[in-house]
Amino acid sequence: MRILFIGDVVGAPGRQMVHTYLKSLKQKFRPTFTVINGENAAHGRGITEKIYKEFLDDGAQMVTLGNHAWDNRDIFSFIDEAKWLVRPANLPEGTPGVGYRIMKVNEYKIAVINLLGRTFMNPADCPFHAVDQLLVHIQKETPIIFVDMHAETTSEKQAMGWYLDGRVTAVVGTHTHVQTADERILPEGTAYLTDVGMTGPRDGILGMDKKAVLHKFLTTLPARFEVAEGRAQLNGVVIDFDDKTGKAKKVMRIQVDDDHPLL
Ligand SMILES: [Fe+2]
Repeated sequence: MRILFIGDVVGAPGRQMVHTYLKSLKQKFRPTFTVINGENAAHGRGITEKIYKEFLDDGAQMVTLGNHAWDNRDIFSFIDEAKWLVRPANLPEGTPGVGYRIMKVNEYKIAVINLLGRTFMNPADCPFHAVDQLLVHIQKETPIIFVDMHAETTSEKQAMGWYLDGRVTAVVGTHTHVQTADERILPEGTAYLTDVGMTGPRDGILGMDKKAVLHKFLTTLPARFEVAEGRAQLNGVVIDFDDKTGKAKKVMRIQVDDDHPLL
């Protein structure tokens, strides 16, 4: 079996890339299951019900979130009914939504977990202890477990990869928006990539208009960031795994942009 994961979709340019390319990507790579990180999909911050439904219509089976999960207030009106939306699991009890979902695909079950890092990020519960608790339940249902580790630092993402090696199918990082080139299968069979990268404007700074970001760096004054315009990119990762054991067999990064056309 194969999972396709699309990295953080930023604003309308990112959504357009998904709309334009996901069908072709699915034809080319034939994934069993597709996941999109959509936490920046609404103008760079949060997600709306309309966008969540568009992702499913475009061909995703599951949508993950991150630290911007609550930035668009629309989330509160639909998260409890959104069957295939996963918010970070390591948040206090009573937080709307759920931190993992399990979907049945043919005779197999695929679990998707979303975790938040804590280093250089807003407070959250410990992702390591939170995932231990989740795995007690999830491993009774399926060995096919996919983890989106939404975190700022490479070290925290690597730590999660090693912590879960052999216990989950894949740990892929999101949030930092720059794809890393360290994809590998860890010794006990977990696919790992520090950051999947970003799907959205290519000529901004992490998807945001570079003028405002530069202004902030040059003056230290507050600046209002807007989603950049112009050329766009799509970043993702494909992971092959054993249907029965859930162990990863192959991991491959995907880039679609002017320099890497989808053939
Ligand atoms: Fe984020």
